[in-house]
Amino acid sequence: MSFTAEELDDIATHLAATGEIDARYSYLGEGAATWDRFVTWQQSEGSANILHATLGLLADAHSTLGGALSGPVRVVDLGPGNAMPVRGLVERLRATGRLERYVGVDNSGEMLAIAEANLRTWLGPGTPLEFHRRDFSSGPLADLKGPSTLVLIVGGTLLNFADPVAVLRHARQVADVITLVARTDTVANRTFFRFGESEKGENIPERYRLMLDRLGVSRECYEPEIGFDGTTRQRYLRIRLTASVTVAGRLALAAGSRVLLWRYYHRSPDELGEMVEDAGYSLLTDRRSADSEYVLLAGVADHRSGA
Ligand SMILES: C[S@@+](CC[C@H](N)C(=O)[O-])C[C@H]1O[C@@H](n2cnc3c(N)ncnc32)[C@H](O)[C@@H]1O
Repeated sequence: MSFTAEELDDIATHLAATGEIDARYSYLGEGAATWDRFVTWQQSEGSANILHATLGLLADAHSTLGGALSGPVRVVDLGPGNAMPVRGLVERLRATGRLERYVGVDNSGEMLAIAEANLRTWLGPGTPLEFHRRDFSSGPLADLKGPSTLVLIVGGTLLNFADPVAVLRHARQVADVITLVARTDTVANRTFFRFGESEKGENIPERYRLMLDRLGVSRECYEPEIGFDGTTRQRYLRIRLTASVTVAGRLALAAGSRVLLWRYYHRSPDELGEMVEDAGYSLLTDRRSADSEYVLLAGVADHRSGA
């Protein structure tokens, strides 16, 4: 898989302006299979992790979410990955006759193909499923709205964006109710970094290495750096160039330059609740996992509550 000229232009322009490569490009091509392996491995893990927490939190919140929506529910899953985290939710809606349609929106066509194959297996033929390849943070969403629409942003995806509130606000185009699941800041988890089973001994997840290779930045030209920035309160993965490179065939960077590949904002449950409200939702529910590591927040779009 190689990037299109338009994607290379976008990557170079964004990098020149912000110093970062948008993490969404790491899920294209083989990056999708590496994410699928990572989440499938989490499923088999006995200990607590974000997949188990998301499945549990969505099950606990099911009647609250269902009660806030009338009639058949359209699920719009923003950034579904392999769709494993939302399996229980869509199966329960389907079993009770309340699943109007599942709509997956992702920037990676390969990721959507994995999600579609999984959902067709779990839900069986005849379940209305739709998949759209788009940037859900800035592309149109209003056309995906159903009569009663539940938007999901799970897996901590929201806190990877430079401006999570803007993404939540953008999702109001389609959401009647929005639900997000994320790891919350416990202070202790500020140094937490996790690689997949097949990536042990590596210091950069495979999908980022593959993405950099495709952008003409080979492994001998950089050193990965992982850490926590106390000013912005974000964990980060970045690279420090050890040689000068031309990224995407378009942008020359000198040795010593740093490029941000991934961030995760550390925010308390209260701060996350404020983000939901700032984006124009009334908080519906706020739940934590038993170990307090993960949080589910749901909000009703203010256009629904008359605000
Ligand atoms: C961290 S993964 C989470 C996947 C899944 N929700 C989970 O919990 O396992 C992020 C997902 O969002 C997609 N994604 C990230 N940024 C995106 C964007 N701006 N527009 C569309 N999809 C995006 C990625 O391709 C990937 O499938």
